[in-house]
Amino acid sequence: NQFSCGEIMLNPSFAALVKNSPILPVLHMESVEDAVNVSRALFKGGITCAEIVLRSPVALDCIKAVAEQVPEMTVGVGTLTTPQQVKDSVAAGAQFLVSPSFTKTLATAMIDTGLPMLPGVVSPSEITQALELGITEVKFFPAAQYGGAKTIKALSSVFSQVKFCPTGGVSLGNMAEYFANKSIFAVGGSWMVPKDLIANKDWDAITLLCQQAIAAINDLDKCA
Ligand code: 3PG
Repeated sequence: NQFSCGEIMLNPSFAALVKNSPILPVLHMESVEDAVNVSRALFKGGITCAEIVLRSPVALDCIKAVAEQVPEMTVGVGTLTTPQQVKDSVAAGAQFLVSPSFTKTLATAMIDTGLPMLPGVVSPSEITQALELGITEVKFFPAAQYGGAKTIKALSSVFSQVKFCPTGGVSLGNMAEYFANKSIFAVGGSWMVPKDLIANKDWDAITLLCQQAIAAINDLDKCA
């Protein structure tokens, strides 16, 4: 999967993965059946990637089930903080890797899988460490608490080669603010998968929220 660029191995681009629907839904799933249904609802709504976070006991089972039962969806893992979790997630069928944080140990384990990967950063020093490993695509997390679009603007003026996926506090209402910055290749969030809709198994309402988000992004492109 990897290709060589000088001495640094580059993983397939994360931006390319979400190019057609630049939204990374963050799924906190408590049931395998719900994870399958939510994934189908997201895909129906035009979102083609789903990040299932390792914050529930069934997260790996959810990844496995979505990979097997919803092959049209690209399913990945989020909230990675250890190399062992990276291994377990790949074994479960994760097709991309997301972390809220950055360490050399963790990022190296993610790179070694050859999968698209997205470590989390908020600071110039973390970005510099990512660049030292050849990483130019990062998650900016938690986005709202660390200054949102304004902070990314300041970071991207220094690190013009870096592409960001802000996550945390992103919504339909503030997406435009983020996408105004060309360094932002996608946004992540959970606003299209609210807990109450999952509890009510209202898959159609989730599809509708996704359609709204995709329509809003298409409108932004038209205006650009
Ligand atoms: C998370 O990891 O929970 C994500 O950052 C989602 O944040 P959000 O719920 O604010 O979209």
